[in-house]
Amino acid sequence: MDTYALFGFPVHHSWSPFIHGMFARQSGQDMVYRLLESPPDQFRHDALDFFFEQGGRGANVTLPHKRAAADLVNDLTPRAQRADAVNTIIRRDSELIGDNTDGVGLIRDLTHNLGLQFDRPRVLMLGAGGAARGALGPLLALQPAVLVIANRTAERAQELAAEFEDMGAVSATAFADLEPVAPFDLVINATSASLKGDVPPIPAGAIGPATACYDMAYGVGETPFTQWSLGHGAKVAAQGWGMLVEQAAEAFHLWRGVRPETSPVLEALRARATLLASASNTRP
Ligand code: ATR
Repeated sequence: MDTYALFGFPVHHSWSPFIHGMFARQSGQDMVYRLLESPPDQFRHDALDFFFEQGGRGANVTLPHKRAAADLVNDLTPRAQRADAVNTIIRRDSELIGDNTDGVGLIRDLTHNLGLQFDRPRVLMLGAGGAARGALGPLLALQPAVLVIANRTAERAQELAAEFEDMGAVSATAFADLEPVAPFDLVINATSASLKGDVPPIPAGAIGPATACYDMAYGVGETPFTQWSLGHGAKVAAQGWGMLVEQAAEAFHLWRGVRPETSPVLEALRARATLLASASNTRP
């Protein structure tokens, strides 16, 4: 049986074994997907090599190893090179190829699952960390009329904008200096603020009745950002469950050559997450 794994630290909370398990059953693939929790030192020095020496067929990589993985593989796909981060490793003979399916997963969720159509959209990206970096290439491929990166620390936004300016109209600002002339078509929250119960401090004028808001974070019920967006009249506010499933589907396709159906998996994932959350809520 072919073995795949997710490397991260921590990873015990991950939904990926559930998602890939459903993909495998659905498409009749004989494979197993494991969680391998390895601290950064171990990941850099032997965990990845050991896994592939033992016959591992492919891997996913999550926080905090995505950038380290880009240094450890033999080759990078152009999109992984752009993102300077790897979330998927494919084995070709004795070579390890690093790819990044996060951004394409986001775009697929926006366009395919949420049915959004973009014609030279005005895009606001909140955050300038790894999650924002991974999404910028695929977002710029949509040929936005404007793409503004807003961040708590303005310098990080400026550095990121400079790195991607050859791909399109990217600019950078601090949250405090964001003065939108009109609502954006798409606002993506790539900060980790939701994980701390915060909402990035953006002006309400960034959002209007035609704005689609997307939080890369996900949970049960609304995230602080989706709640804020809906409260300010956004057309739609989605959280990152779909991106999670779509980036996995893209990895699965690269590994197995089969494109899994994502909608039943997304449905099952939401139902399971709700069930687990209500179970823990009702615990005495
Ligand atoms: P990731 O890889 O998840 O993107 P990261 O590289 O640590 O993680 O980046 C986290 C992002 O969330 C950054 O843009 C960070 O802003 P700074 O660059 O100013 O640190 C942003 N962030 C974290 N907590 C936040 C908060 N409470 N409000 C707004 N932005 C926040």
